Amino acid sequence: MSKGVFITGASSGIGKAVAFEMAKKGYRLALAARRKDVLRDIRDEIKRRHAPPAIVIRQLDVTDGEDVFAAFAEMAEALGGIDIVFANAGVGLGERVGRGDFEKIRQTMAVNLLGAMATMDAAAAYFLEKGEGHIVGVSSVAAFRGMPKSAAYCASKAGLAVYMEAMRAELFRKNIHITVLYPGFIDTPLNDMLPSRPFLIDAQKGARIIVGLIEKKVKSATVPVFPWNIVGRLLKILPTGVIARM
Ligand SMILES: NC(=O)c1ccc[n+]([C@@H]2O[C@H](COP(=O)([O-])OP(=O)(O)OC[C@H]3O[C@@H](n4cnc5c(N)ncnc54)[C@H](OP(=O)(O)O)[C@@H]3O)[C@@H](O)[C@H]2O)c1
Repeated sequence: MSKGVFITGASSGIGKAVAFEMAKKGYRLALAARRKDVLRDIRDEIKRRHAPPAIVIRQLDVTDGEDVFAAFAEMAEALGGIDIVFANAGVGLGERVGRGDFEKIRQTMAVNLLGAMATMDAAAAYFLEKGEGHIVGVSSVAAFRGMPKSAAYCASKAGLAVYMEAMRAELFRKNIHITVLYPGFIDTPLNDMLPSRPFLIDAQKGARIIVGLIEKKVKSATVPVFPWNIVGRLLKILPTGVIARM
């Protein structure tokens, strides 16, 4: 039987493009996001274009921890098993420090960090029972260096990467593979308002690279690997004065 993949944030951008790419390759798909009407259209389009062996959708807000566990159980049942979890749901709200943006800060941590942790915790429980599995988390090159106008976003992505590193150690020898992805700029509604998006790639290309990295079961990688593997290292050592102008 083909592998089953559970994707959060499948209604837009990277999650949607990865869903199409995986459908093309014959995976069974469980797609979740808050906008069910959008998911319905995506499901219908995927069926028309790629006729995957199975595809199920469910409305899910990842900030509702209990519902994340319920959704995971329901979708695993409906799909006939899940092999890969792509914890991708996220927001980028352009939060500022000391400008009355604390609600944006809270929302960023709730979705990007706690929501992803809930998704991964549900996945880990399921995979421990099953005896195997693969958990993929979408961090960001923003995890490499705290950047202005996105302090909470950078913190959420750095926190997620460290959480996944700890998961990998705790689940060592449990046959559960952990992949941390650090995308650079991929063209999606999350960032299309930004004045500058260096080394931008489109979502389809991003999805092809991501699915390739998932299939190789890499531990971690930037997306695309080059130039972000180099630029990421550079970001860590640039003086604050340079970072402040970004
Ligand atoms: N695009 C980039 O350049 C880039 C770079 C690095 C990392 N990333 C990360 O990649 C991931 C996907 O981002 P994207 O660029 O594809 O953005 P996007 O097009 O805005 O998609 C974000 C997805 O997350 C879902 N989502 C948001 N809040 C949610 C919630 N509370 N519960 C469930 N789903 C929620 C949205 O669906 P609904 O609104 O329907 O819920 C949507 O499907 C994010 O984690 C982002 O931080 C993106």
